[in-house]
Amino acid sequence: MTRRAAISGTGSALPARRVSNQELAEQVDTSDEWIVERTGIRFRHIAGPDETTSTLATAAAQHALDAAGMEAGQIDLIVLATATPDQTFPATATRVQAALGIDDCVAFDVQAVCSGFLYAVSVADSMIRAGAATNALVIGAETFSRILDWEDRNTCVLFGDGAGAVVLTAEEGGEQTGRGVLATKLHADGRHNELLYVDGGPSTTGTVGKVRMKGREVFRHAVVNLANVLGESLSAAGLAPEDIDWLVPHQANARILDATARKLGLDPSKVVVTVDQHANTSAASVPLALDQAVRDGRIKKNDIVVLEAMGGGFTWGAAVLRY
Ligand code: UT7
Repeated sequence: MTRRAAISGTGSALPARRVSNQELAEQVDTSDEWIVERTGIRFRHIAGPDETTSTLATAAAQHALDAAGMEAGQIDLIVLATATPDQTFPATATRVQAALGIDDCVAFDVQAVCSGFLYAVSVADSMIRAGAATNALVIGAETFSRILDWEDRNTCVLFGDGAGAVVLTAEEGGEQTGRGVLATKLHADGRHNELLYVDGGPSTTGTVGKVRMKGREVFRHAVVNLANVLGESLSAAGLAPEDIDWLVPHQANARILDATARKLGLDPSKVVVTVDQHANTSAASVPLALDQAVRDGRIKKNDIVVLEAMGGGFTWGAAVLRY
């Protein structure tokens, strides 16, 4: 009997404050025209003083639990992807655990920046398949606004804050139902650290640091790496691009989304796009987009859904699932 991890609920949360390109253009040397033309971004949400990665993650997780019709106490694993934890330690996953009132479960963070949610899904899927967990909360949550240099127009216009979550539940007999995670593929190449990084950390400067990025080079790598990992994950699942019902990509730049769809020969209407509304929310972007497409009725039970992301490290990955 095949045991698979299937999504039983999705949720998301955004900070209350929504900031337009126009508002940013009043603070830094940029314009609505430049941002829209080069990135497709129109708005981003920015966390207020009372909003942190864990508060956003907890709200998203609660929505996912509600959608799954599940009590927090049924969760035995929390994997939280973030590059902006509340504290250097302990893991933000344990703050979410406490806020949800879960007395005992496995809870830890994964750090793969924008690919973090893909890494988290892959780890939770492996633990569920191995019988080490039954009901997992997999969360991507960020407050990237806290590590932005608000005087660097190359980066500060690109990112936003938010959280998304899924409940992954063991599906016994998954081979028969066909539902669940069919394949995941992950990669990392640490040689490209200097193209996308934060210039601080506990063990180096003792500071949190700010995001630094050579955008043009990252763009080039992203298009190639994403096309490759999508091909790899589809063939691991025994599927072809034409089998995809929905592509839910990392939301870094509308031009990357277009290029990826073109390379796959995928109709752009099958790509879930939220970059215009949320900007790049790093590890939160894929689950935020997934939740939106589930809630508005686009993604339906048994659809073939492909998730992908690429980010600092470099790290990149993809997951193919039957929703
Ligand atoms: O999530 C992790 C993965 N991250 C990504 O995938 C990001 C990938 N990269 C990108 O999305 C794009 O490369 C950017 C949106 C970051 C930049 O777009 P680009 O078309 O590659 O622009 P560029 O870096 O080549 O810069 C073009 C010009 C430069 O001026 P000069 O040197 O040509 O005179 C920049 O100084 O645009 C200028 N510029 C801006 N102008 C107005 C850069 N940022 C801004 C800005 N407003 N905010």
